[in-house]
Amino acid sequence: LDNGLALTPPMGWLTWERFRCITDCKAYPQECISEALIKRTADIMVKEGYQAAGYNYIAIDDCWLERERDANNRMVADRHRFPSGMKALADYVHERGLKFGIYQDYGTMTCAGYPGVLGYEEIDVKTFAEWDVDYIKLDGCYVDSTKMDTGYPAFGKLLNETGRPMLYSCSWPAYQDKPNYDSIERHCNLWRNWGDIDDSWTSVTSIMSWFANNQDELVKHAGPGHWNDPDMLIIGNFGLSLDQARVQMAVWSVLAAPLLMSVDLATIRPEFKEILLNKDIIEVDQDPLGKQGLRVWTGSNCEIWTRELFDGSYAIAFVNLREDGAPYTLSVRAHHMKIPNQTYKVKDLYKEEESRVFGAEDVFETRINPTGVRFYKFTKCVSHGRRIRANKNHC
Ligand code: GLA
Repeated sequence: LDNGLALTPPMGWLTWERFRCITDCKAYPQECISEALIKRTADIMVKEGYQAAGYNYIAIDDCWLERERDANNRMVADRHRFPSGMKALADYVHERGLKFGIYQDYGTMTCAGYPGVLGYEEIDVKTFAEWDVDYIKLDGCYVDSTKMDTGYPAFGKLLNETGRPMLYSCSWPAYQDKPNYDSIERHCNLWRNWGDIDDSWTSVTSIMSWFANNQDELVKHAGPGHWNDPDMLIIGNFGLSLDQARVQMAVWSVLAAPLLMSVDLATIRPEFKEILLNKDIIEVDQDPLGKQGLRVWTGSNCEIWTRELFDGSYAIAFVNLREDGAPYTLSVRAHHMKIPNQTYKVKDLYKEEESRVFGAEDVFETRINPTGVRFYKFTKCVSHGRRIRANKNHC
């Protein structure tokens, strides 16, 4: 969608995967969907370096609404959990230099059963603009999915007419068998393609295979202003080991995915925080060329994922899906990685290895932990006549 937004994949934080539809603030005061959770998280994003790293949206997913609209048919935020109202919460977020996102659903109800926008599109868009919302996630439960081809564009037109720039996240293709991605990329800034992520390695790898199996179609539609969305980062929660969390961060950045954390930033362990704040990997994700990468090779139950970057370098993730114990050694050549035969300087983005030089005819050897990743940036060595051959260290 050409609205000047999301020129690189959006980054931020979203409630759903970790906090779901927890509405009982008495039993779960730290976890319920509430203004307290949003304020606490916004403060941490600013104080603990997330905002500085690029995570600038903070968004509420489902379960923020009252069950009924008000007498004027306007949406009402839950009076107990959002006592100050959404405009005040947006102000709080904006005062900290962050942007405010919110969830709704194109159907009669949200997926969790709260009132959806169908029949109230105009008044709801107007309300969002009045609340100073910056990001709308529009889900697709409880509506005939054939209506989406006109309904999502129509809702987007209303958003546009408010004059307020609002990032538009569509769940449209996730509800259709044969989505019209030409239309989707014109009308949405990002879109959920497939099923929901859960807190498990199985979930992460199933999303990876779905994206790989459909990559020829998907990559055509990603670019500045419009992105495929493999769903939230679950890094720092209960289901992933440290190695598995590194896989998600690496592969999502190769996929040019939105980086939407869904984790309790108040309790996240430092080693997971470090993954989320890895500058080099965020830089890959945010690469200005905006070209989504591909799974370019599979073998020995390992995978290679390669993304071309704006300066002609490549981000390459070696994923080991094996669970059979000791780290596994892969030996590959340039053509396995789908990169041109030339000399590269190779930098480990998780900083466990020294940089090395990889020559055109060399074998590249890397040793990967079980259900883990090695993630490198391959940068072409600048050629000054024959000097590279004479001295590889020059590179
Ligand atoms: C759907 C979406 C999820 C989340 C829930 C909320 O399942 O795909 O991302 O928004 O609804 O109910």
